[in-house]
Amino acid sequence: MQKAVVSRIGQYEIRLCDREDIPAVIEINAETLPEHYSDYFYFEILAEFPDTFLVAELGGKVVGYVMCRIEYGFSHVKRLGLARKGHVVSIAVLEAHRGKGIGTGLIRGAEEGVARKSGTEMYLEVRVKNTSAISLYEMLGYKPSGRMDSYYRDGEAALLMAAQIGQ
Ligand SMILES: CC(C)(COP(=O)(O)OP(=O)(O)OC[C@H]1O[C@@H](n2cnc3c(N)ncnc32)[C@H](O)[C@@H]1OP(=O)(O)O)[C@@H](O)C(=O)NCCC(=O)NCCS
Repeated sequence: MQKAVVSRIGQYEIRLCDREDIPAVIEINAETLPEHYSDYFYFEILAEFPDTFLVAELGGKVVGYVMCRIEYGFSHVKRLGLARKGHVVSIAVLEAHRGKGIGTGLIRGAEEGVARKSGTEMYLEVRVKNTSAISLYEMLGYKPSGRMDSYYRDGEAALLMAAQIGQ
């Protein structure tokens, strides 16, 4: 079956995630991040937000993913008011494939999906010690908009970062 390609980065394809990609996504998550979710959670997010759940593929192998929910609530960008916003729940790229622009491609693809659904901003939580991810988000225009102490199970704090999109 033809899969919906969102963009290409060299030999890599950024495309919409399919149900059959979920086992690979779960494996990448297990390998790269301390936060894991039940299988059901991945399928739920895919069923509800298929436009903002993307994978990066190289030669038939999934090497990265971003899953992003669309929410309505208080803005993280404006001082006051409500907004439709994309929430990056999880993003990861296998170590061997990092530093090639795939993380950037996944975020940009998710932003486009959120904008198509009338979202005007993006936000995410990142471990305060995850300096490489933080610098990538800064490069993409995300700014710190809050901090949540003891956010992660091991007690580490989260930095909340947000950006306006679709202008
Ligand atoms: C965060 C993460 C998803 C980034 O993925 P990535 O594919 O390496 O991201 P990119 O390649 O777009 O950008 C990473 C760096 O490579 C550089 N880069 C991008 N394209 C490049 C290219 N074509 N050639 C060389 N370097 C490049 C970027 O400038 C960036 O540099 P910086 O880290 O100094 O800012 C990845 O590091 C990862 O999976 N980490 C573990 C999981 C994690 O921490 N997830 C985030 C949780 S909030």
